[in-house]
Parts: sequence; structure tokens; C-alpha cells
Amino acid sequence: MSSQNTSIHGEWSSRLAFIFAATGSAVGLGNIWKFPYITGENGGGAFVIVYLICVFMICMPVMMAEIMLGRRGRHSPVNTMRALAQETGRSRGWQVLGWMGVLAGLLILSYYSVIAGWALAYIPRLASGLFTTVNTLPPEEVNQFVSLKFSDLITDPIQLLGWHSIFIIATILMVAGGVQKGLERAVQVMMPALFIVLLILVFYAMTTDKFMTGLHFMFDVNFKQLFYPHCETTTNCQFSGQGVLSAMGQAFFSLSLGMGSIMVYGAYLPRHASIAQTTAVVVLADTVVAILAGLVIFPIVFSHGLAPAQGPGLVFNTLPIAFGQMPAGSLFGALFFLLLTLAAATSAISLLEPATAWLVETGKFNRPWAAITCGLVSWLIGLATVFSFNIWREVTPLAMFAKFEGKTLFDLLDFLTANVMLPLGGFFIAIFVAWLMNNQKVAEELDAATQDRSYRFWRFLLRYVTPVGIGLVFLNVIGVIS
Ligand code: TRP
Repeated sequence: MSSQNTSIHGEWSSRLAFIFAATGSAVGLGNIWKFPYITGENGGGAFVIVYLICVFMICMPVMMAEIMLGRRGRHSPVNTMRALAQETGRSRGWQVLGWMGVLAGLLILSYYSVIAGWALAYIPRLASGLFTTVNTLPPEEVNQFVSLKFSDLITDPIQLLGWHSIFIIATILMVAGGVQKGLERAVQVMMPALFIVLLILVFYAMTTDKFMTGLHFMFDVNFKQLFYPHCETTTNCQFSGQGVLSAMGQAFFSLSLGMGSIMVYGAYLPRHASIAQTTAVVVLADTVVAILAGLVIFPIVFSHGLAPAQGPGLVFNTLPIAFGQMPAGSLFGALFFLLLTLAAATSAISLLEPATAWLVETGKFNRPWAAITCGLVSWLIGLATVFSFNIWREVTPLAMFAKFEGKTLFDLLDFLTANVMLPLGGFFIAIFVAWLMNNQKVAEELDAATQDRSYRFWRFLLRYVTPVGIGLVFLNVIGVIS
């Protein structure tokens, strides 16, 4: 295995194309749908700070490691890990890391596609002017109207199934088309457009009377709220590490780390491209978009007396109010949800790619059939999420554990993937790269010298900070330390 090889799956046309693709993978529902709602659930400021610490201290080094592994291995995560374990003289067992990535990708895609289906459903809803009614309603009925429209959608399994299917089919078509064509072009137009619409929305949020309240909610740090979440409402004031785990899981999720998405994209990266610079750009873009989304949503939440902790419906229960009230809101609203769907699509592609690339490498499938097969698996698993919001709303398989009380299949899938599988993947990537691989070769792959300051700092983070950080959060949550 030499690092000069190119991948059988194709290659990005330039370094910029890779930056766009990796940003496209990172920026998605995680930033605009998930970040605001779990920030809301975890009380705001302290959560945001822990999230940012995880992004910069734990995830950024892992991202560089993942890209580096991919570019050296030049294959799907399974075969990249197999080849690199061999090159490093380690057990073939390291392949398991690749397998876990393939599985996590399909599991995440299964629910990601359902939520993207919600965004898809909101395009015609806004375009048709459904929410302009908001202007004619007395203020106290506005929230009710908007949330009714949302529950109309999610309580109807047939509608959800339809949108979920459309989204998966679109994802399959894009992955079947190969690395460059569809991907590169879509991302280059979509990302700047999404950014601009978000900025317009931030200006709107500034016109609400609660912009400062939203700002305080996001940036006032109150660790008590994060560690003792239910203290104000109940008498049982118990320490909980869950908020920190969620923040770490969200950092991995938002940056597409820990399961091989970024690894497999790295495999298509041309030889001469700076991994460190690329990582910096992707992390920055991803973080900015998440923060902007929060700055839009929380002022709306507070100016309409909504609950920040209402869960996965947050974006869908807030933004339509704004679009209903602003001039040309139907147009902007439809555009926004179109861009959100596209952002989700460029992320979904990266979730399907590791499994697809692996099937192609077995030699038994061509690319289109590989994509169809993997997509179908995700579609099927996705049914569990579709039904979690309606006919299986009461199905809570792990309710016997207090921690998982009331958790639907969707909640459990989300927890298992984002909070367990991704950080675990990140942990082992860090161990493999920083402890097992040859220091010289790693430096070479990063175009650095082993004695460079920045290289040594990166390696230090990956050797100690990343694994110890992830380990501590895990131990804390399972109750070994507190
Ligand atoms: N990061 C994407 C988002 O924020 C989702 C995503 C794409 C992802 N690929 C991933 C999450 C790999 C975890 C792992 O919407």
C-alpha cells in the first residue's frame, strides 16, 4: 500500500472541491435542526461552551486523523483500516472500526432521511403561503396554529413515508452517479446560498424584541443547569453527565466524524492538499452555521413564549412563524427549506458512501447497485423512525432503564449512533493514529516534519486529550466516576 495510489472510486478535481464536499458533509440537519434543539434541551450557554470545547479539542484533531487515514488507505473505511493495520503490523481486527462506520452510516442515514423528509415537506407548505395565516391570527393562537401544522405532518405515517422515500431515492441517485459530478456542483452553489439566507434570518431575529434574550440563552454559561438539569422543577437534584455526552456526541455528529464519512472523502483527496488547512475551513464553516441557526431560532422562541426544550420539532415550530410574518416570507421560507434539504442531501451522500464504496470493493456490485442495496437497507431501518412519531409513539423498548424512559426507537437510534458509536469510533481512530502508526509516516502524510511545533501539538491532542476526554465522558455517564 503506497500513499501515491489513487482511489478506484475517483478523485476530487481539486483541493477546493474536497473542501466543498467535506463542508457539504458536515453542514446539514445537524447544524440547523439538531444543534438548536439539543441546545434548548440542555439549557443553553453551558452546553454551547462544552460543545465548542469538544469541537476544537477533541474533534478537530480527529478530523485531521480521519482525512489522513483515508488518503493513505485510499479505500472504503473497511479496506482502508485493513490495509493500514497491515502496513503498521497490527491486527486485522482494526477492520472492525471500518465495519462500525459502515453500520453507523446506514443507521444514521435511516433517521436522517426521515427528518430531511420533514424539511422537504415544508417546501410546498411554505410556497403555498400556508403560514401567511399567522398574520391574521391573534398572537396567542399563532403558536398553536404552527404546531398543529407540524403535528399534522408527523402523525401521518403515509406522508412521512412518502417524503422519506423521495429523499432516500435522491440520495441513492447522487451516490450512484460517482464521486465528482453531482456532488461538487451541488455543494458549490448551495453552501453560499444557505449562508446568505441564514444571515437574512439573523437580521429578522434582530428585529424581534427578544434577540438579546436569545443571545443570553446561548452564551450565558451556567454549569449548574447542565450538570443538575431538573433541579428547578423537581426535588430530586441529581448530578448528570448526560448533557456533556450530548455535547460531545453533537460535535462528532455535526462534523461527520467517527464513522468513515470523512475518511472515505479523504480517500478521494489528491496527494497535494493540506489536511490541516482543509480541516480548519470545514470546522469553522460548520460551527458558524450552527451558531447562526441558534441566533435565529432562540429569539423567535422567546418572543413567542415557546419552550426551548420542546425537542426535534423546534425548527419547524419556530421558523414558519418568522416566515409568516416577514415580507416575501413564503418565498424566503420555501427557499430556506429547499436549501436545508440540499444541505441534508450533501450530508446524506457522505453517510451512504462508506457502505457503497465497500460493496463496490467486494467486486460483486457495480456502483449503482451497491448504492441501491445500501440505500434500501437504510430505507427499511428508517421505518422505525417514521413510526416513532405516530403509531409507535408509545413503543419504548428500553423503558426499564430510568435513563431511557419514554425514549422512542428514533431517540434510541439517535443516542446509540451520535452519543455512543461516533465517539467510540473517534476514540479508536485517535489510538490507532497517535499510538500505533509510525510517527514518521503520519507526519509525511500530513506534509509535516515530526519536530514541527504544530505537528507535535496535534499529536499531543490526539494522543492524550482526545482519548482521555472521550473516556472520561463515557465513564462518567455509565456511572463509574462522577
Ligand atoms: N454532519 C452532518 C450534519 O451535521 C450529518 C452527517 C454526515 C454525519 N455524515 C456523517 C454525522 C457522519 C455523523 C457521521 O447534518
